[in-house]
Amino acid sequence: MNNAETIIRENRAWAEEVFSKIDRKYQAVTLRSRNKLPYGVDENGIHLDMTERRRSWWTNGFWGGLNWLLYAYTKNEEYKTTAKRSEELLRPVADDFGLQNHDVGFVWHMTYGADYRLTGDKAAKNLDLYMAASLASRFVLATKVPGGFIRAWNGKRGTEWDNYDRSIIDCMMNLPLLYWASAELDDDRFARVARAHADMSIRDHLRADGSVNHIVDHDRETTEMTRTLGGQGYGVGSSWSRGCAWALYGFALSYRHTGDARYLEASKRAADYFINCVKGDWLPRVDFRAPEEPVLYDSTAGACAACGLIELAKRLPENEGGKYVEAALSLLRAMGERFCDFDPANDHLLDYGTERYPAELTPEGYKKAGVHMSIIYGDYYYTEAILKLLGCEFDPW
Ligand code: GLY
Repeated sequence: MNNAETIIRENRAWAEEVFSKIDRKYQAVTLRSRNKLPYGVDENGIHLDMTERRRSWWTNGFWGGLNWLLYAYTKNEEYKTTAKRSEELLRPVADDFGLQNHDVGFVWHMTYGADYRLTGDKAAKNLDLYMAASLASRFVLATKVPGGFIRAWNGKRGTEWDNYDRSIIDCMMNLPLLYWASAELDDDRFARVARAHADMSIRDHLRADGSVNHIVDHDRETTEMTRTLGGQGYGVGSSWSRGCAWALYGFALSYRHTGDARYLEASKRAADYFINCVKGDWLPRVDFRAPEEPVLYDSTAGACAACGLIELAKRLPENEGGKYVEAALSLLRAMGERFCDFDPANDHLLDYGTERYPAELTPEGYKKAGVHMSIIYGDYYYTEAILKLLGCEFDPW
């Protein structure tokens, strides 16, 4: 098999063509949506704005992150202006000590954190460090064994939450904020928290077959898993595809920052599983263990997985990465043909994202149930994957 770099070279013309369509589109969208924190789009293809609705929502960094990414590759100042504006829109959340959960990495590291790394802005760096401290402070230190993990959300004391704490696989994507803080401050405590969490996640989230538990409750004294929940997947024991993608990419990133081969192996296990589930039409279902009908896709899982597969391919020894980069290309090509809207008149790029496996599909239709819609992180990861193929040196992770 060809190695990853050769395959990437052979597909460069295709990736360049796709990127030129993305760039043409966002040159228009970045101006139209400059004063928004977009999530999805309305029936006219216009970005819905979270600024008033839910300013502290976990996805609100992706628009700034997308603009920083486009700026990093093109040096078009319009993207930078929009990215800076999105930071202003997010700022009240930080000032309010808002978003007290593990998603601070998603929100701040790809906005203020990217800003600092691309422009050297010291104030942006300080805010990102403050968020790293907030993430590290979520560490649940076991009392009976060494180690611990990062708590996903805060529960109400005096309720069932008194006996356990909850972690989710998604957190793997927030750990780069901690690795970065350790490198920036030359202080390994942040990275130690990240590694303890990643170790727990290998033990409790990643299953032997490479699929994942989305939500895990832990005993606080021993960190042991007390139960797992279906979360955004079909049910307990099912296989939520975006969770698999978070694991695939998240473990690869922990490998990038630590060089620990166990994380590379974990990412490979998740990747092999993901590839087996999507090979065929390369259009990811929202849950790989849900009933075959109705067919429900989640393009965001495919876009995030493509990033993880390329990352993995680049980190593996020569001739081992080819299979992973080929899988990424198959996902990106299939979704490019079936799910992408490159028309500059519409604000979204990638359609057919799904928020969660729907509790029920209402007569009003899929989009109302959060099914088959565009979601900003799908747009973000599709673009990041194409830029990874083009050798863009910057990504926020
Ligand atoms: N982090 C929540 C989700 O993936 O929907």
